[in-house]
Amino acid sequence: MMTTRIIGTGSALPKKTLTNDELSQIMDTSDEWIRTRTGIVSRHVADEEETAATLAAEAGRRAIDNAGMKPEDIELVLVATCSAENYFPSVGCQVQDILGLKNAAAMDISAACSGFLFALNTAHAYILSGLYEKILVIGTETLSRTIDWTDRSTCVLFGDGAGACVVRSDEEGIIGISQHSDGTQGGVLTSFAPSLETPLAAAAPGSPLYMEGQAVFKFAVKTVPECIRQVLEDNHTEVEDVKYFVLHQANSRIIQSVAKRLKADEEKFPMNLDKCGNTSAASIPILLDEMNRSNKLGRGDLLVLSGFGAGLTWGAALLRW
Ligand code: COA
Repeated sequence: MMTTRIIGTGSALPKKTLTNDELSQIMDTSDEWIRTRTGIVSRHVADEEETAATLAAEAGRRAIDNAGMKPEDIELVLVATCSAENYFPSVGCQVQDILGLKNAAAMDISAACSGFLFALNTAHAYILSGLYEKILVIGTETLSRTIDWTDRSTCVLFGDGAGACVVRSDEEGIIGISQHSDGTQGGVLTSFAPSLETPLAAAAPGSPLYMEGQAVFKFAVKTVPECIRQVLEDNHTEVEDVKYFVLHQANSRIIQSVAKRLKADEEKFPMNLDKCGNTSAASIPILLDEMNRSNKLGRGDLLVLSGFGAGLTWGAALLRW
């Protein structure tokens, strides 16, 4: 029985960083407030040259190299993003152009911070169907361009970056994967695109990111452990069998609470949000790439990946590295 295996990883972070201390010089906040509430100390922020597409392409290039493949081997590019600079062409098509992925079809997937998980699941479905064998899956965000930098309750949380994985059909890899949505809760985390005046309707100004922080927090700490338990149970696997739980990097307190609810050792929950902040769809593949390149992952290790965010959306994957 064939499944989907991650065979290469890559990531790319903007050159410039913005620390909590630097933020506290331009708004009424402090390193202490941000660090204790979220675990974040610094984040990367895109400059004029860097876009969701350029970061995605760099992460993708590194993942293809890491997989020992050539650009022409890739048959499909799936890019998860909710902060692309343009409506079209898709980031996927821009990545195809930058990297010369001449044999690939390309498209974007929008599931906010669960985007990478949803894109991975989509890749898995294509691989199981037999339509494609080698797929580049990317999560990329430049959320710094969509947040209100005068709203201290949200702008301190997010960072920019991209992470990528090359997946291919193999005998080992994804064991189980789930994805879920609850559109009735969409209002707790939103961002409206601006629109121009039409002959029939007035222009709408758009709005930056709006978040009901405590509602999102409660959703995450309840839903993520339930969803992880379900994917483990469905695949006859115990929490103790899992080497690492690679969770969306939104907030260290959310991750600690998930560990506690799963009765799992916190050491099994790697984090890099102290230096990256919440990079939405990019956070899981950036962290995976960091772990892969520092030789933390061994062939055969069991990993759980779990994403959650706006939509609301959430999901989890159990896989063998
Ligand atoms: N610096 C200093 N003070 C701040 C601040 C900042 N950056 N942001 C908000 N505050 C203030 C508020 O104004 C409020 O002051 P008040 O009590 O005088 O009114 C106080 O801090 C507490 O605000 P509150 O919103 O209740 O804080 P909180 O404990 O809920 O923490 C979050 C806020 C955002 C850190 C927390 O709700 C959270 O992490 N939620 C999940 C968010 C998330 O992960 N979203 C992405 C999911 S994909």
